[in-house]
Amino acid sequence: MTAETPRPSGGGAPPDRQDVHDLEAILAVANRDADAVEHTVDCHFDVRFTWVYDKGNRSRLERLYEKAKTAQWNAQTDLPWETEVDQEAVVAANRELLGARGLDVDVTGTVFERWSDTDWLRFGCESQNWMLSQFLHGEQGALLCTARIVETVPWADAKLYASTQVMDEARHVEVFAKYLDDKLSGHYPVNTHLGLLLDDILVDNRWDMTYLGMQIMVEGLALAAFGFLHDATTEPLLKRLLRLVMSDEARHVAFGVLSLQEMYAGLSAAELMERKEFAFEAALRMRDRFLQQEVWERLGVPVKEALTVVTRSPERQLFQKMLFSKIVPNCKKLGLLDNGDSWLRDRFREIGVIDLEHLADTGEEFESLQIA
Ligand SMILES: [Fe+2]
Ligand SMILES: [Fe+2]
Repeated sequence: MTAETPRPSGGGAPPDRQDVHDLEAILAVANRDADAVEHTVDCHFDVRFTWVYDKGNRSRLERLYEKAKTAQWNAQTDLPWETEVDQEAVVAANRELLGARGLDVDVTGTVFERWSDTDWLRFGCESQNWMLSQFLHGEQGALLCTARIVETVPWADAKLYASTQVMDEARHVEVFAKYLDDKLSGHYPVNTHLGLLLDDILVDNRWDMTYLGMQIMVEGLALAAFGFLHDATTEPLLKRLLRLVMSDEARHVAFGVLSLQEMYAGLSAAELMERKEFAFEAALRMRDRFLQQEVWERLGVPVKEALTVVTRSPERQLFQKMLFSKIVPNCKKLGLLDNGDSWLRDRFREIGVIDLEHLADTGEEFESLQIA
Protein backbone atom coordinates (compact mmCIF):
# COMPACT_ATOMS: atom_id res chain seq x y z
CA MET A 1 0.00 0.00 0.00
CA THR A 2 1.49 3.34 -0.93
CA ALA A 3 0.21 6.75 0.03
CA GLU A 4 -1.51 8.99 -2.44
CA THR A 5 0.27 12.10 -3.54
CA PRO A 6 -0.82 14.72 -1.05
CA ARG A 7 -2.60 17.72 -2.46
CA PRO A 8 -2.85 21.10 -0.79
CA SER A 9 -5.37 20.71 1.96
CA GLY A 10 -5.66 24.08 3.68
CA GLY A 11 -7.17 23.84 7.13
CA GLY A 12 -7.79 26.31 9.95
CA ALA A 13 -4.94 28.43 11.20
CA PRO A 14 -3.25 27.07 14.32
CA PRO A 15 -2.54 29.52 17.15
CA ASP A 16 0.42 31.74 16.34
CA ARG A 17 2.56 30.43 19.18
CA GLN A 18 6.25 30.58 19.84
CA ASP A 19 6.05 27.77 22.33
CA VAL A 20 3.38 25.19 23.05
CA HIS A 21 2.70 26.50 26.56
CA ASP A 22 1.92 30.07 25.49
CA LEU A 23 -1.44 30.75 27.17
CA GLU A 24 -1.85 34.17 25.50
CA ALA A 25 -1.54 32.60 22.05
CA ILE A 26 -4.00 29.86 22.92
CA LEU A 27 -6.61 32.30 24.22
CA ALA A 28 -6.14 34.61 21.24
CA VAL A 29 -7.97 32.10 19.05
CA ALA A 30 -11.58 33.20 19.29
CA ASN A 31 -14.76 31.36 18.37
CA ARG A 32 -15.57 32.63 14.89
CA ASP A 33 -19.30 32.04 14.79
CA ALA A 34 -20.61 31.19 18.23
CA ASP A 35 -24.21 32.03 17.27
CA ALA A 36 -24.29 30.21 13.94
CA VAL A 37 -26.70 27.33 13.46
CA GLU A 38 -24.77 25.89 10.50
CA HIS A 39 -21.14 25.59 9.53
CA THR A 40 -19.87 24.65 6.07
CA VAL A 41 -16.48 23.12 5.36
CA ASP A 42 -15.23 23.30 1.77
CA CYS A 43 -13.87 19.80 1.05
CA HIS A 44 -12.40 18.26 -2.11
CA PHE A 45 -11.69 14.55 -2.07
CA ASP A 46 -11.93 11.42 -4.17
CA VAL A 47 -14.78 8.98 -3.58
CA ARG A 48 -13.65 5.40 -4.22
CA PHE A 49 -15.52 2.37 -5.42
CA THR A 50 -13.83 -0.96 -5.00
CA TRP A 51 -14.86 -3.78 -7.32
CA VAL A 52 -13.09 -6.31 -5.14
CA TYR A 53 -15.78 -7.45 -2.70
CA ASP A 54 -13.26 -9.35 -0.66
CA LYS A 55 -15.15 -9.55 2.64
CA GLY A 56 -12.86 -11.18 5.15
CA ASN A 57 -9.69 -10.37 3.26
CA ARG A 58 -8.75 -8.20 6.21
CA SER A 59 -9.88 -10.61 8.89
CA ARG A 60 -9.44 -8.32 11.89
CA LEU A 61 -11.60 -5.63 10.29
CA GLU A 62 -14.16 -8.27 9.39
CA ARG A 63 -14.20 -9.44 13.01
CA LEU A 64 -14.86 -5.84 14.15
CA TYR A 65 -17.69 -5.58 11.62
CA GLU A 66 -19.32 -8.77 12.93
CA LYS A 67 -18.95 -7.52 16.53
CA ALA A 68 -20.48 -4.17 15.61
CA LYS A 69 -23.55 -5.83 14.10
CA THR A 70 -24.37 -7.61 17.34
CA ALA A 71 -23.42 -4.73 19.64
CA GLN A 72 -26.02 -2.21 18.44
CA TRP A 73 -28.17 -0.65 21.17
CA ASN A 74 -31.13 1.67 21.08
CA ALA A 75 -30.63 5.13 22.52
CA GLN A 76 -34.33 5.48 23.33
CA THR A 77 -35.06 2.12 24.94
CA ASP A 78 -31.77 0.87 26.41
CA LEU A 79 -31.22 3.74 28.83
CA PRO A 80 -33.21 4.61 31.98
CA TRP A 81 -34.31 8.05 30.76
CA GLU A 82 -36.93 8.17 33.52
CA THR A 83 -34.10 8.74 36.05
CA GLU A 84 -34.54 12.05 37.87
CA VAL A 85 -31.36 14.11 37.64
CA ASP A 86 -30.79 16.91 40.13
CA GLN A 87 -27.75 18.50 38.49
CA GLU A 88 -26.76 20.61 41.49
CA ALA A 89 -26.96 17.62 43.81
CA VAL A 90 -24.85 15.55 41.42
CA VAL A 91 -22.24 18.31 41.10
CA ALA A 92 -22.15 18.71 44.89
CA ALA A 93 -21.74 14.95 45.38
CA ASN A 94 -18.93 14.81 42.82
CA ARG A 95 -17.19 17.70 44.53
CA GLU A 96 -17.31 15.78 47.79
CA LEU A 97 -15.32 13.06 46.10
CA LEU A 98 -12.82 15.50 44.62
CA GLY A 99 -12.33 17.74 47.66
CA ALA A 100 -13.87 21.01 48.77
CA ARG A 101 -14.21 22.73 45.41
CA GLY A 102 -13.09 19.93 43.15
CA LEU A 103 -9.96 22.05 42.92
CA ASP A 104 -7.25 21.59 45.51
CA VAL A 105 -5.33 24.83 45.11
CA ASP A 106 -4.67 27.94 47.21
CA VAL A 107 -6.88 30.76 45.91
CA THR A 108 -5.62 33.47 48.27
CA GLY A 109 -5.21 36.77 46.45
CA THR A 110 -6.94 35.51 43.32
CA VAL A 111 -10.31 36.22 41.74
CA PHE A 112 -11.62 33.10 43.50
CA GLU A 113 -10.84 34.33 47.01
CA ARG A 114 -14.36 35.71 47.44
CA TRP A 115 -16.14 32.86 45.75
CA SER A 116 -18.83 31.23 47.87
CA ASP A 117 -19.97 27.61 47.74
CA THR A 118 -22.81 28.79 45.50
CA ASP A 119 -20.32 30.23 43.01
CA TRP A 120 -18.40 26.99 42.94
CA LEU A 121 -21.62 25.05 42.50
CA ARG A 122 -22.56 27.23 39.54
CA PHE A 123 -19.11 26.68 38.08
CA GLY A 124 -19.56 22.90 38.51
CA CYS A 125 -22.91 22.95 36.67
CA GLU A 126 -21.59 25.18 33.86
CA SER A 127 -18.54 23.02 33.57
CA GLN A 128 -20.72 19.95 33.11
CA ASN A 129 -22.92 21.74 30.54
CA TRP A 130 -19.75 22.71 28.66
CA MET A 131 -18.19 19.25 28.81
CA LEU A 132 -21.28 17.41 27.57
CA SER A 133 -21.81 20.05 24.85
CA GLN A 134 -18.28 19.48 23.55
CA PHE A 135 -18.84 15.72 23.63
CA LEU A 136 -21.97 16.28 21.54
CA HIS A 137 -20.14 18.43 18.97
CA GLY A 138 -17.30 15.91 18.83
CA GLU A 139 -19.81 13.13 18.19
CA GLN A 140 -21.23 15.03 15.25
CA GLY A 141 -17.67 15.40 13.96
CA ALA A 142 -17.27 11.64 14.27
CA LEU A 143 -20.55 11.08 12.40
CA LEU A 144 -19.34 13.20 9.47
CA CYS A 145 -15.82 11.73 9.45
CA THR A 146 -17.03 8.16 9.49
CA ALA A 147 -19.49 8.75 6.67
CA ARG A 148 -16.51 10.21 4.81
CA ILE A 149 -14.41 7.08 5.46
CA VAL A 150 -17.14 4.91 3.92
CA GLU A 151 -16.64 6.92 0.73
CA THR A 152 -12.87 7.26 0.66
CA VAL A 153 -11.25 4.14 2.10
CA PRO A 154 -10.28 1.69 -0.69
CA TRP A 155 -10.86 -1.56 1.26
CA ALA A 156 -14.17 -3.46 1.24
CA ASP A 157 -13.92 -4.64 4.87
CA ALA A 158 -13.22 -1.08 6.02
CA LYS A 159 -16.18 0.35 4.09
CA LEU A 160 -18.52 -2.21 5.67
CA TYR A 161 -17.16 -1.64 9.15
CA ALA A 162 -17.23 2.16 8.83
CA SER A 163 -20.90 2.00 7.88
CA THR A 164 -21.67 0.49 11.30
CA GLN A 165 -19.76 3.30 12.94
CA VAL A 166 -21.93 5.86 11.18
CA MET A 167 -24.92 4.35 13.01
CA ASP A 168 -22.97 4.27 16.28
CA GLU A 169 -22.13 7.96 16.00
CA ALA A 170 -25.72 8.88 15.17
CA ARG A 171 -26.71 7.16 18.40
CA HIS A 172 -24.03 9.06 20.33
CA VAL A 173 -25.26 12.38 18.94
CA GLU A 174 -28.76 11.34 19.96
CA VAL A 175 -27.88 10.43 23.58
CA PHE A 176 -25.70 13.45 24.35
CA ALA A 177 -28.23 15.85 22.83
CA LYS A 178 -31.06 14.25 24.81
CA TYR A 179 -29.09 14.25 28.05
CA LEU A 180 -28.22 17.93 27.64
CA ASP A 181 -31.80 18.88 26.79
CA ASP A 182 -33.60 16.78 29.38
CA LYS A 183 -31.20 16.63 32.34
CA LEU A 184 -28.78 19.58 32.32
CA SER A 185 -29.15 23.36 32.37
CA GLY A 186 -27.69 24.76 29.17
CA HIS A 187 -25.69 24.28 25.97
CA TYR A 188 -22.37 25.69 24.75
CA PRO A 189 -21.31 26.26 21.13
CA VAL A 190 -18.40 24.25 19.79
CA ASN A 191 -15.10 25.17 21.41
CA THR A 192 -12.79 27.02 19.02
CA HIS A 193 -9.94 24.55 19.26
CA LEU A 194 -12.20 21.54 18.78
CA GLY A 195 -13.97 23.24 15.85
CA LEU A 196 -10.66 24.06 14.13
CA LEU A 197 -9.47 20.51 14.60
CA LEU A 198 -12.65 19.02 13.12
CA ASP A 199 -12.33 21.38 10.13
CA ASP A 200 -8.70 20.38 9.62
CA ILE A 201 -9.57 16.70 9.65
CA LEU A 202 -12.35 17.15 7.11
CA VAL A 203 -10.42 19.47 4.81
CA ASP A 204 -7.48 17.09 4.42
CA ASN A 205 -8.18 14.94 1.37
CA ARG A 206 -5.92 11.99 2.22
CA TRP A 207 -8.17 9.19 3.43
CA ASP A 208 -5.86 8.04 6.18
CA MET A 209 -5.80 11.53 7.73
CA THR A 210 -9.51 11.22 8.52
CA TYR A 211 -8.65 8.08 10.45
CA LEU A 212 -5.66 9.62 12.22
CA GLY A 213 -7.51 12.78 13.21
CA MET A 214 -10.78 11.16 14.21
CA GLN A 215 -10.20 7.50 15.14
CA ILE A 216 -6.82 7.93 16.82
CA MET A 217 -6.76 11.47 18.19
CA VAL A 218 -10.35 12.68 18.79
CA GLU A 219 -11.83 9.30 19.66
CA GLY A 220 -8.74 8.25 21.64
CA LEU A 221 -9.18 11.34 23.76
CA ALA A 222 -12.94 10.81 24.01
CA LEU A 223 -12.48 7.25 25.23
CA ALA A 224 -10.14 8.47 27.99
CA ALA A 225 -12.43 11.39 28.94
CA PHE A 226 -15.56 9.20 28.98
CA GLY A 227 -13.73 6.69 31.17
CA PHE A 228 -12.67 9.41 33.62
CA LEU A 229 -16.17 10.83 33.81
CA HIS A 230 -17.75 7.37 34.02
CA ASP A 231 -15.65 6.55 37.06
CA ALA A 232 -16.19 9.97 38.67
CA THR A 233 -19.93 10.49 38.31
CA THR A 234 -22.46 9.31 40.85
CA GLU A 235 -25.38 9.83 38.44
CA PRO A 236 -26.64 6.41 37.28
CA LEU A 237 -28.14 7.47 33.93
CA LEU A 238 -24.97 9.26 32.84
CA LYS A 239 -22.86 6.35 34.07
CA ARG A 240 -24.85 3.88 31.97
CA LEU A 241 -24.89 6.20 28.97
CA LEU A 242 -21.10 6.62 29.08
CA ARG A 243 -20.59 2.88 29.52
CA LEU A 244 -22.61 2.13 26.39
CA VAL A 245 -20.87 4.84 24.39
CA MET A 246 -17.44 3.63 25.53
CA SER A 247 -18.21 0.10 24.35
CA ASP A 248 -18.68 1.57 20.85
CA GLU A 249 -15.75 3.99 21.03
CA ALA A 250 -13.28 1.25 21.91
CA ARG A 251 -14.27 -0.48 18.67
CA HIS A 252 -13.82 2.76 16.76
CA VAL A 253 -10.32 3.34 18.08
CA ALA A 254 -9.43 -0.28 17.29
CA PHE A 255 -10.68 0.29 13.72
CA GLY A 256 -8.24 3.20 13.42
CA VAL A 257 -5.29 1.32 14.87
CA LEU A 258 -5.84 -1.79 12.71
CA SER A 259 -6.32 0.18 9.49
CA LEU A 260 -3.45 2.60 9.95
CA GLN A 261 -0.98 -0.11 10.93
CA GLU A 262 -1.41 -1.52 7.44
CA MET A 263 -1.46 1.88 5.75
CA TYR A 264 1.64 3.22 7.50
CA ALA A 265 3.70 0.12 6.69
CA GLY A 266 3.93 1.43 3.11
CA LEU A 267 4.80 5.08 3.84
CA SER A 268 8.11 6.87 3.29
CA ALA A 269 9.84 8.75 6.12
CA ALA A 270 8.62 12.07 4.68
CA GLU A 271 5.02 10.84 4.51
CA LEU A 272 5.23 9.54 8.09
CA MET A 273 6.56 12.92 9.22
CA GLU A 274 3.42 14.60 7.86
CA ARG A 275 1.35 12.21 10.00
CA LYS A 276 3.44 13.00 13.08
CA GLU A 277 2.97 16.74 12.61
CA PHE A 278 -0.75 16.31 12.06
CA ALA A 279 -1.01 14.18 15.22
CA PHE A 280 0.85 16.73 17.32
CA GLU A 281 -1.20 19.70 16.16
CA ALA A 282 -4.33 17.67 16.91
CA ALA A 283 -2.97 16.85 20.37
CA LEU A 284 -2.36 20.53 21.13
CA ARG A 285 -5.81 21.54 20.00
CA MET A 286 -7.43 18.93 22.17
CA ARG A 287 -5.33 19.92 25.15
CA ASP A 288 -6.29 23.59 24.59
CA ARG A 289 -9.94 22.72 24.15
CA PHE A 290 -10.10 21.38 27.71
CA LEU A 291 -9.12 24.75 29.17
CA GLN A 292 -12.88 25.48 29.08
CA GLN A 293 -12.33 29.16 28.29
CA GLU A 294 -16.01 29.65 27.39
CA VAL A 295 -17.09 28.65 30.91
CA TRP A 296 -14.98 31.39 32.49
CA GLU A 297 -16.31 33.90 29.97
CA ARG A 298 -19.89 32.95 30.79
CA LEU A 299 -19.19 33.28 34.52
CA GLY A 300 -17.66 36.72 33.97
CA VAL A 301 -14.24 35.72 35.30
CA PRO A 302 -11.02 36.97 33.62
CA VAL A 303 -10.08 33.92 31.58
CA LYS A 304 -6.32 34.14 31.82
CA GLU A 305 -6.35 34.68 35.58
CA ALA A 306 -8.81 31.81 36.08
CA LEU A 307 -6.69 29.46 34.01
CA THR A 308 -3.50 30.46 35.73
CA VAL A 309 -5.07 29.42 39.05
CA VAL A 310 -6.96 26.35 37.87
CA THR A 311 -4.10 24.81 35.96
CA ARG A 312 -2.07 24.73 39.19
CA SER A 313 -4.49 22.19 40.64
CA PRO A 314 -2.96 18.68 40.84
CA GLU A 315 -6.36 17.09 40.02
CA ARG A 316 -6.63 19.27 36.97
CA GLN A 317 -3.10 18.44 35.85
CA LEU A 318 -3.78 14.73 36.27
CA PHE A 319 -7.04 14.99 34.30
CA GLN A 320 -5.34 16.92 31.47
CA LYS A 321 -2.60 14.33 31.32
CA MET A 322 -4.89 11.31 31.43
CA LEU A 323 -6.77 12.64 28.40
CA PHE A 324 -3.74 11.37 26.47
CA SER A 325 -3.72 7.91 28.05
CA LYS A 326 -5.06 6.24 24.89
CA ILE A 327 -3.49 8.55 22.30
CA VAL A 328 0.16 8.11 23.27
CA PRO A 329 0.19 4.26 23.38
CA ASN A 330 -1.79 4.13 20.11
CA CYS A 331 0.64 6.51 18.38
CA LYS A 332 3.42 4.27 19.63
CA LYS A 333 1.72 1.17 18.26
CA LEU A 334 1.42 2.92 14.88
CA GLY A 335 5.17 3.62 14.88
CA LEU A 336 4.68 7.40 15.04
CA LEU A 337 6.89 7.74 18.13
CA ASP A 338 9.89 5.86 16.86
CA ASN A 339 9.85 5.10 13.14
CA GLY A 340 12.26 7.32 11.24
CA ASP A 341 13.06 9.71 14.06
CA SER A 342 11.93 10.65 17.57
CA TRP A 343 10.22 13.92 16.58
CA LEU A 344 6.77 13.07 17.98
CA ARG A 345 8.30 11.39 21.03
CA ASP A 346 10.16 14.65 21.76
CA ARG A 347 7.00 16.73 21.28
CA PHE A 348 4.97 14.49 23.60
CA ARG A 349 7.78 14.84 26.14
CA GLU A 350 7.54 18.62 25.79
CA ILE A 351 3.85 18.59 26.76
CA GLY A 352 4.46 16.12 29.59
CA VAL A 353 2.63 13.04 28.34
CA ILE A 354 5.39 10.77 27.01
CA ASP A 355 5.44 8.53 30.10
CA LEU A 356 1.93 7.33 29.11
CA GLU A 357 3.51 5.40 26.23
CA HIS A 358 3.74 2.27 28.37
CA LEU A 359 0.00 2.05 29.02
CA ALA A 360 -1.98 -0.54 27.04
CA ASP A 361 -2.80 0.40 23.46
CA THR A 362 -6.41 0.21 22.35
CA GLY A 363 -6.06 -2.26 19.50
CA GLU A 364 -7.94 -4.94 21.44
CA GLU A 365 -9.62 -3.00 24.25
CA PHE A 366 -13.03 -3.32 22.65
CA GLU A 367 -13.12 -6.95 23.82
CA SER A 368 -13.04 -5.96 27.50
CA LEU A 369 -15.50 -3.08 27.04
CA GLN A 370 -18.12 -5.13 25.20
CA ILE A 371 -21.61 -4.92 26.56
CA ALA A 372 -23.10 -8.35 27.23
FE1 LIG B 1 -18.93 8.45 19.23
FE1 LIG C 1 -16.69 6.99 17.84
